[in-house]
Amino acid sequence: MPSRIAAAFILSVLLSSTISVSPSTPRDSIRKATVGKAIYFITNDDDNAVIALSINLDGTLSRGTITSTGGAGSNVLAVGGMTTQAPDALVAQSSLAIVDNNIFAVNAGSNTLSLMEISAKSPSALKIVGEPATLPGEFPNTVAVSKKNKLACVAMTGAKAGISCASFSTKGLGLMDNLRPFDLNQSTPPIGKFNTVSQTFFSTDESKLYTTVKGNPATNNTGFFSVFTVDHTNQLSAEDVRSSPNGTQILFGSTPIPDSPNHVFVTDRAFGAIVLFVDPETAKVDLVGKGIIEGQIATCWAAVSHITHSAFVTDGSIDRIVEMSLDNASVISKLDLFSNGDPGLIDLAVAGDFIYALSPGNDTDQAAVTVLDISGGQGSARQIQHFQLGDLGVNKNAQGMVALS
Ligand SMILES: *[C@@H]1O[C@H](CO)[C@@H](O)[C@H](O)[C@H]1NC(C)=O
Ligand SMILES: *[C@@H]1O[C@H](CO)[C@@H](O)[C@H](O)[C@H]1NC(C)=O
Ligand SMILES: *[C@@H]1O[C@H](CO)[C@@H](O)[C@H](O)[C@H]1NC(C)=O
Ligand SMILES: *[C@@H]1O[C@H](CO)[C@@H](O)[C@H](O)[C@H]1NC(C)=O
Ligand SMILES: *[C@@H]1O[C@H](CO)[C@@H](O)[C@H](O)[C@H]1NC(C)=O
Repeated sequence: MPSRIAAAFILSVLLSSTISVSPSTPRDSIRKATVGKAIYFITNDDDNAVIALSINLDGTLSRGTITSTGGAGSNVLAVGGMTTQAPDALVAQSSLAIVDNNIFAVNAGSNTLSLMEISAKSPSALKIVGEPATLPGEFPNTVAVSKKNKLACVAMTGAKAGISCASFSTKGLGLMDNLRPFDLNQSTPPIGKFNTVSQTFFSTDESKLYTTVKGNPATNNTGFFSVFTVDHTNQLSAEDVRSSPNGTQILFGSTPIPDSPNHVFVTDRAFGAIVLFVDPETAKVDLVGKGIIEGQIATCWAAVSHITHSAFVTDGSIDRIVEMSLDNASVISKLDLFSNGDPGLIDLAVAGDFIYALSPGNDTDQAAVTVLDISGGQGSARQIQHFQLGDLGVNKNAQGMVALS
């Protein structure tokens, strides 16, 4: 290996604590990898910050920056209410969102939403835009952004729970509108994991805001799937339509299904995942398919890939990735990652041929992002890097994952 390349390789080994690039196959040399530019997640610490990690041309991660959101993170209380919970401090998916070169991040401890701008020259350089917007509720844990409607909507899951939205521009966030309440009978911080909001996100055509809310099987309290509609003035409707699909219990991380405008893939922490159909007229939902993952403990986060046309889900208590069908949520493949030592995986994002999955670690193991290559199609996922984050000061409170394409 020429010395300059050798030096660059050694440098990248030094920058990332652990790197393992698999040998290239003939396919890799024919088809150039499709890669994103950077990934982002929040530390969710007292001084909340967005971590940005650049993506190399081979899909691996390098170099990180930390940029304060100007707000505070928080943690739900563990069941029983005596101790704080981490990992999965916010019991949520989409604790930050990305649209073009803007990042929106929740501050669960200060009841605000921050807007940040990504530098056009350097995807890991962020700066805050305007002041964080004050929210009309408590414990924001998930945010959705519509580019078409110039609308950012936040879900809160504390003592004052519900949805509020604001417009945004290059100058910053507008005023958050009135809270559309969810009656969850929660405290601030909430006592997780049951009876809390899981995720808010827009439909593919951005005409509807979907929100998943967990039930509590022990008290026969069903969760629900909420649908608000965006009206012709780009405002969210005051009232939502709620459904509790038969057989679901703890609806969690979700994603619209590409090329199926009315279908949504949703995890259910109680058993695996489902595919739902949202009636475009009534906004009521029907169960289309249900997939049970044998031996699962907490299947909560989901992302889809256009390349594999499948969903990938993670389990906070098992270090593996499960790939599922977008037709009916049946299991397509399972990839054990036990050898990298993480206690489990939470939020994940797909960028081109690669998946980036966050493990916040725990009291003894440092946080890490596992990078998987999925360029070979369904069933091909393989780990190419385990990028440890302890040097950046990231700990078990970390949450969220988005990628810049
Ligand atoms: C609301 O929460 C309180 C405190 O956790 C509990 O005692 C009460 O039974 C709950 N009410 C309902 C309607 O669930
Ligand atoms: C929940 O429902 C089941 C079946 O209907 C019933 O047997 C059980 O007693 C209920 N539990 C509670 C806490 O209401
Ligand atoms: C709900 O599902 C159960 C079994 O999974 C079935 O027996 C019941 O008829 C279903 N109810 C409705 C309203 O579809
Ligand atoms: C689920 O969908 C797959 C195709 O994605 C199909 O092969 C399989 O038979 C379906 N399973 C059920 C139970 O419908
Ligand atoms: C952290 O996770 C590792 C890997 O699962 C486990 O061996 C270790 O016991 C965990 N530490 C704590 C404090 O739970």
